[in-house]
Amino acid sequence: MLSKTDRDYGTPPKISAKLVTLEVDGREVTVPEGTSVLRAAALAEVAIPRLCATDSLEPFGSCRLCLVQVEGRNGYPASCTMPVESGMKVRTKSEMLERLRRGVMELYMSDHPADRTSCAGNGNCELHAMSDAVGLGEIRYGFEGKNHLRAERDASNPYFTFDPARCIVCSRCVRACEEVQGTFALTIDGRGFNSVVSPSQHQPFFESECVSCGACVQACPTDALVEKSMLEKGTADRSVTTTCGYCGVGCSFKAEVKGDEVVRMLPNKDGMPNHGHSCVKGRFAWGYATHPDRVLAPMVREKISDAWRTVSWDEAIGYAAKRLREIQTRHGAGAIGGITSSRCTNEETYLVQKMVRAAFGNNNVDTCARVCHSPTGYGLKTTLGTSAGTQDFDSVLKADVILVIGCNPTDGHPVFASLMKRRLRQGAKLIVADPRTIDLVRTPHIEAMYHLPLLPGTNVALINAFAHVALSEGLAKEDFVRERCEWPAFELWKKFILEERNSPEAAAKVTGVPAEKIRAAARAYATGGNAVIYYGLGVTEHSQGSTMVLGMANLAMATGNLGREGVGVNPLRGQNNVQGSCDMGSFPHELPGYRHIADAAMRGSFEAAWGVKLDPEPGLRIPNMFDAALDGSFRGLYVQGEDIAQSDPNTHHVTAALGAMECVIVHDIFFNETAKYAHVFLPGSSFLEKDGTFTNSERRISRVRKVMPPLAGRADWEVTCELSTAFGYPMHYAHPSEIMDEIARLTPTFAGVNYEKLDRLGSVQWPCNDQAPEGTPVMHVGQFVRGKGHFVVTEYVPTDEKVGPRFPLILTTGRILSQYNVGTQTRRTPNVAWYREDVLEIHPHDAEERGVRDGTWVKVSSRAGETTIRAQVTERVPPGIVYTTFHYQSSGTNVVTTENSDWATNCPEYKVTAVQVMPTAEPGARRAGGTNVDEHPAAGH
Ligand code: SF4
Ligand code: SF4
Ligand code: SF4
Ligand code: FES
Repeated sequence: MLSKTDRDYGTPPKISAKLVTLEVDGREVTVPEGTSVLRAAALAEVAIPRLCATDSLEPFGSCRLCLVQVEGRNGYPASCTMPVESGMKVRTKSEMLERLRRGVMELYMSDHPADRTSCAGNGNCELHAMSDAVGLGEIRYGFEGKNHLRAERDASNPYFTFDPARCIVCSRCVRACEEVQGTFALTIDGRGFNSVVSPSQHQPFFESECVSCGACVQACPTDALVEKSMLEKGTADRSVTTTCGYCGVGCSFKAEVKGDEVVRMLPNKDGMPNHGHSCVKGRFAWGYATHPDRVLAPMVREKISDAWRTVSWDEAIGYAAKRLREIQTRHGAGAIGGITSSRCTNEETYLVQKMVRAAFGNNNVDTCARVCHSPTGYGLKTTLGTSAGTQDFDSVLKADVILVIGCNPTDGHPVFASLMKRRLRQGAKLIVADPRTIDLVRTPHIEAMYHLPLLPGTNVALINAFAHVALSEGLAKEDFVRERCEWPAFELWKKFILEERNSPEAAAKVTGVPAEKIRAAARAYATGGNAVIYYGLGVTEHSQGSTMVLGMANLAMATGNLGREGVGVNPLRGQNNVQGSCDMGSFPHELPGYRHIADAAMRGSFEAAWGVKLDPEPGLRIPNMFDAALDGSFRGLYVQGEDIAQSDPNTHHVTAALGAMECVIVHDIFFNETAKYAHVFLPGSSFLEKDGTFTNSERRISRVRKVMPPLAGRADWEVTCELSTAFGYPMHYAHPSEIMDEIARLTPTFAGVNYEKLDRLGSVQWPCNDQAPEGTPVMHVGQFVRGKGHFVVTEYVPTDEKVGPRFPLILTTGRILSQYNVGTQTRRTPNVAWYREDVLEIHPHDAEERGVRDGTWVKVSSRAGETTIRAQVTERVPPGIVYTTFHYQSSGTNVVTTENSDWATNCPEYKVTAVQVMPTAEPGARRAGGTNVDEHPAAGH
């Protein structure tokens, strides 16, 4: 039978070197000091009835069900709030205890619907379980007295309901919202009998501050808070542990399934990235997987002006292979290529790059990570020796100073944000460097010590100024640098950093942040104890994205903030498998494990394993593919799980390039914008339909397990194998585990990874090999991966994208909690209730100057193009800066973004576009003609 949670020990574990031994019902048990008697009893396999206690929350002591007797003491203390003492002798069973517990339960049950069969817990309700446990029979008081049984149910949230009639006011939901989620949306209003759970100011859940994370639903011991999907579909009959398909936190879930239908996704208590927590997307927004818009049959067409023909898998794959082959015959081996997806599994990504290199015979493979975190790979590899973040998520609990740059964790990486907020509530200091006043700057019980609202495009000036303060004020850890880093490179860098042009005063002129504020924040970072940096696309998606990553690594090395818990430099990855897609050799110059294709020995090992000669020349990056398509030398493209027409910058350029190709093969779960330019559409499978692994932002490799069969009959990895085979390079695997075995054989950092180990340990963080058989939570301990850390001079070079009289505002972009990426998945879920369209945030001064009113349409124009969008007048953005999200294609955000890109990696400069904003009466042709849901081919294509 499925349980609402896994085994529950009643109160959270305590960490202490001091151990205490006690006796519970005659059983001796030894636990860390500070452990509750309730937990000690559970560890001794003695179950004490309880209702208000659960091991994800600090004890509260309200229900009085967990009473015990302690030898030599009077009374009946609550075991959940009583800490263990050495030599204590606890008794959990006696006639008196049983009578007291029955009395408590009787009161609860007299104010609770009597009909068990109507309980959504359906056998898993803790209240009913406890009623049974204490042996409660008839309820003497009946249901006629004063009770809450007719209280009105709140069904305003799209995903769960709150029924006060079933609430026992145990406060677990309130504490979950505070302790686990950190939103503080709930209170218990009133006293005694009139106590009631209240979201925000007595509002319905949907209108309150609730962010729909589901922590309260998870914590509720009754069905007062319950998933609507449970009410609709009933109880599941099996559970499959898998990994969220949305963001780079990589939360572990137990998919509860009835037949082939998901009933609910429960966050996994044993999941290392999330420890039983979730956000609205992973927890609730999985319905897209069975949305009627899914394209379930392969389709082909000769020209993009033709109608689609639905064909069999064999015909579609044969057709795709034939057209690609014909292109190669006419235009050469380099005229075709492929794009891997950060949404797909490691195994699928590995196969796509293998197909391009081994079957297509070139290295024209790139990944959507090109447009997000390629500078992370470059910057961290150059300085530290490996293209990945340095810490595990839990490391944040040891941080004293947290520097958040260019990321918005409460929206983009919500579960990690909750962990970070927990540490901040414990007293860690927060520095936020972001043009916008993101939620973290001021949120319940948290206030950033410094908010540095720098101008977009000036990150490098800011980080150099931080380093200037550290070096000029003697705050650097030169002992650490001498021991761990290349000293000559450090001296070179130090000389550069100490130049006046890198001072806070100089940076103030560029960033717009007062010098004293920069100086104070830099001092806090350098002297505050363990200092850690978390960053996102606000760092990488710039013309100096790579320089900034180098700059952050420089700063962390100079201040000794690497190589232990609580410190480090950490990219928060956007998509579920950005880290993995990079690890798997998706870049044109790198084989799996970031080994350069020009390295003959390395190439030789792959040639031997794959049985083909490989091209030693790096292939085309995505932007080069587009340019080559327009000049006629690149004519065929296979795109897996990536809507390049919507997500890449300068849409007009991208669509012109796609339109110029002879064969575009789109492999996706929905008919997306790119598919409008495709000749072959291969139906993809969602994360619920396949086996494999994802690698999250902390390098953690977790299993993705098939919850239901692929709706279109094929998992993505099978399709790639068949396409490669049809092309003339046979690929056969019985199961994705065999693909992982091949990856492990060929990639030293993955050498110890296999499915048996992942099943046994739950997950592992790479490097995982003989030196680290169970993985590596914190990197660079004792020594950097490259040996000595390498400092790089990081000259601040302003972006070419300048404001001027025509385009006086800077547009920058980001995301919102309820939507994900270009919205393909979340727009097909009830999440649209929270965010129905992208809006343009504009400061009241800028709005007034232009006659723009809140909620009205504005035209946003840049050097690249123009679009229309609704304005939101807000002080979240400073004057001179406007901001929007890119979740709806109708907003055409990337129509206006330019082709500027990072100097080292070509990562587009999404975050800085000079624009003009003017009121307009019309929503515009693009918006008027478009829809907010990608069109299905049946709609006329
Ligand atoms: S809603 Fe559930 S968790 Fe919250 S107080 Fe009521 S019974 Fe307890
Ligand atoms: S769903 Fe999350 S945010 Fe909303 S009330 Fe429950 S715990 Fe708080
Ligand atoms: S934080 Fe990310 S991985 Fe976790 S549930 Fe939300 S979307 Fe999924
Ligand atoms: S479980 Fe201890 S008082 Fe409720």
